[in-house]
Amino acid sequence: MKLVPKYRDVVTDDAKELSKIESHIFTMDNLKTNFKKEIRKDSKKIFVCTIEKRKKNQRNFYTFIKSFYNLFSKTKNELGINIFDDFIIGYAKIWIILDEIHIEQIGVIDTYRKQGIGEQLFLLCVKYSIESGSKKILLECRNSNKAAINLYKKYLFKITSIRKNYYPYKNFREDAICFESPEIQKSFYKKLIYKKKN
Ligand SMILES: CC(C)(COP(=O)(O)OP(=O)(O)OC[C@H]1O[C@@H](n2cnc3c(N)ncnc32)[C@H](O)[C@@H]1OP(=O)(O)O)[C@@H](O)C(=O)NCCC(=O)NCCS
Repeated sequence: MKLVPKYRDVVTDDAKELSKIESHIFTMDNLKTNFKKEIRKDSKKIFVCTIEKRKKNQRNFYTFIKSFYNLFSKTKNELGINIFDDFIIGYAKIWIILDEIHIEQIGVIDTYRKQGIGEQLFLLCVKYSIESGSKKILLECRNSNKAAINLYKKYLFKITSIRKNYYPYKNFREDAICFESPEIQKSFYKKLIYKKKN
């Protein structure tokens, strides 16, 4: 079945699920983000990517009801029947500091990677940054994180510095690569970002 990802702003109810998937996504980092707190902060913004999940054992019965019900209404909760569960497969979290944006976390559960989801989450962050009037975006990642490095370079982010031994790695430490975007309000950059459709 074709994957149909949806993107939306985080809601308070997502906090528990985000805490659960954080450790699955960032396997090398011992992160324990307090998402409940983060979601409430005005200086933070979180986008999530979800997919619909059918409830096991109820598939045929509920699929039948849903298709029948959909003939009459677009809102599925009106009858109080929760036919499908949405679950989160990726998210991006940013920190707004004056006219700069820091992408603090961006990640996708491993089985859903390489399907364009990380890129869409990244584009949501960049679009939000442009539309909120920010000048540039900063972020960092592990030296070994080729997937992330390629993604940032694809959107013309440049390496500004290396933080030696910044991240723990098994019994060693690993360097952090610090990236900075071009000036995101420039028209060439907006063209690059908005030519990609969500
Ligand atoms: C980085 C990450 C978010 C990319 O998400 P994704 O959904 O797999 O990426 P996409 O399919 O959208 O790919 C977008 C671009 O990223 C780069 N990329 C993604 N996976 C890659 C891989 N395995 N190898 C090399 N480049 C890769 C490519 O440039 C790709 O563009 P292309 O398809 O035109 O080549 C994902 O690998 C991830 O969640 N990693 C763990 C968490 C993490 O390290 N986050 C970043 C540091 S905070």
